[in-house]
Amino acid sequence: MTYDIVNRATYESPKIVSLYLGGPIQCAELRILVAHRDAYWGKRVLDIGCGAGRTTEFMRTLDVTYVGVDYSERMVRECAARFPDAECTQCDARDMSCFGDESFDFVLFSNNGYDCLDHNDRLSALREINRVLKPGGLFVFSSHNKDYEHARSHPRLELSWDPFRQARMIYNFFRRWNNHRKNRKYERFEDGYWILNDSSHLYSLLTHYISVPGEVRELREHGFEALEAYGRDGMMIPLDTGDRRSSWVYYVARKTGPASGGDAEG
Ligand SMILES: C[S@@+](CC[C@H](N)C(=O)[O-])C[C@H]1O[C@@H](n2cnc3c(N)ncnc32)[C@H](O)[C@@H]1O
Repeated sequence: MTYDIVNRATYESPKIVSLYLGGPIQCAELRILVAHRDAYWGKRVLDIGCGAGRTTEFMRTLDVTYVGVDYSERMVRECAARFPDAECTQCDARDMSCFGDESFDFVLFSNNGYDCLDHNDRLSALREINRVLKPGGLFVFSSHNKDYEHARSHPRLELSWDPFRQARMIYNFFRRWNNHRKNRKYERFEDGYWILNDSSHLYSLLTHYISVPGEVRELREHGFEALEAYGRDGMMIPLDTGDRRSSWVYYVARKTGPASGGDAEG
């Protein structure tokens, strides 16, 4: 519950929403969209966690029936205002009962939006994604990597010769330090995953971390086959070993059957 309160407050903040107004499609996203064009071209795409529309801007130029959803009211309002011709509604990935079974061919949860959920909530979202996807449909998402060599971080004071820059760095250091002081007590180190208060948005989020083999296993247990994984640079990484170099990993998974019903531990 705390997890949800901390992260939702961040994504409802006008300052944070303004950070998501633009931005290019990332290398890994582009590589996946080119390689898996047949999975979405002329078909129905659900963009979960569409934010203020970075992916909406790109996807609406393609031949797809696009539906964007986000649980943040402010993000959805911004996205709808920027792209009035795109369907964009408020909806939480954990409960997508507004959509019928097998109603999408392709589901995207980009930029680690999927890690905004605590372990069991993340699995509830995975079951919902499985439900709304057609058999054989693709789920493409990114997620933080527990094996990344610098996964665990603490606020550090950076130094600059420029006095104005230095003053800003000191101010931001104290903001980071204050947020981390409040949020680090919610960090958890479970067997298969970690919940970390990392440097994102000046240490204002709680984020789920999992290894590549752990994610592959979790997908398999919920009716998906992991097909590929990519680092942020768009380079493919193996599915069966831990990767120390990638801070996040982009996954391509195919729905193979219905998700199992029960809650996983965590
Ligand atoms: C890191 S932002 C990325 C936004 C956008 N996809 C982009 O790349 O600019 C993550 C987004 O996921 C949304 N989000 C997080 N948890 C969600 C959930 N359970 N259901 C729907 N949206 C969620 C947040 O509100 C936020 O807009």
